[in-house]
Amino acid sequence: MTSRRRWVSAQGFERAWWERVAKRIDSGQREELTYYAWKASEMEKRLAGFVSEEQERSAQVLEIGSGPVGIVSYLPWGERFGVDPLEDFYRSNPTLTKHRDRAVSYLKGTGEAVPFPDRKFSLIILDNVLDHVQSAEGVLREVRRVLADNGLLYFAVNVRTLPGTVLHKVLATLQIDKGHPYSFTARSIGRFLRSNGFDPMKEWVSDAKEARRRDRKAPELRHKIKGYTGLYEFVYYAVCSKSKDRVSLRATGKQTH
Ligand SMILES: C[S@@+](CC[C@H](N)C(=O)[O-])C[C@H]1O[C@@H](n2cnc3c(N)ncnc32)[C@H](O)[C@@H]1O
Repeated sequence: MTSRRRWVSAQGFERAWWERVAKRIDSGQREELTYYAWKASEMEKRLAGFVSEEQERSAQVLEIGSGPVGIVSYLPWGERFGVDPLEDFYRSNPTLTKHRDRAVSYLKGTGEAVPFPDRKFSLIILDNVLDHVQSAEGVLREVRRVLADNGLLYFAVNVRTLPGTVLHKVLATLQIDKGHPYSFTARSIGRFLRSNGFDPMKEWVSDAKEARRRDRKAPELRHKIKGYTGLYEFVYYAVCSKSKDRVSLRATGKQTH
């Protein structure tokens, strides 16, 4: 768990980042936030075989840390909700929320205190969020609470190689990287999910060498530094069930990453 102060500072950075995104969209320097359609179709491919058509129709879906739009807006399943601490800010910016599906209910809230009753959801999405939160253990505890016993967690987070993670932890502690209080490797995040009550039934890791090559070739100095120092990121994905084996849970919530 990180301190409240550290997390508030990370969220200030996050908000400023999205404000810059909106300005760049408005000035035509970058495309609108339609890439969530791609993310949703990738997620549907990964969930294939885990969810029947009938289960899709009757699904109760929650995206935690949905950001301005989220995968949830492009998922034509059952009843859908998004929760994000920056919801008031996103809602106030039409450029960022233009591609929201009006059928989705977006609420302000955190993953550490999800504003829903126990076992309500059949699918929870946590995409590019767990390294941003105040308490990663607290978020997974809440996901367990609001997820139905036979429900699924669709999980994605940016990861680094072990040397990259060690270096990133130093930068995150010094707040040179303000936005990401946590850092994980593909192995440590798998262990972290297991020790917090989830069974990753299927896992994928995107191409680390390709991520390094992309950063090294990018025109921006920031990306080149990432590419040459080991700070480049790639993505760990998993489809998880709630583990039945409560013994594997750490009652203390001690950090293992
Ligand atoms: C990198 S953005 C990702 C947004 C979206 N999931 C996406 O992939 O575009 C991280 C999001 O996590 C949210 N976040 C940060 N701390 C959180 C917390 N404790 N609980 C839930 N969401 C949180 C931020 O407000 C932000 O919207």
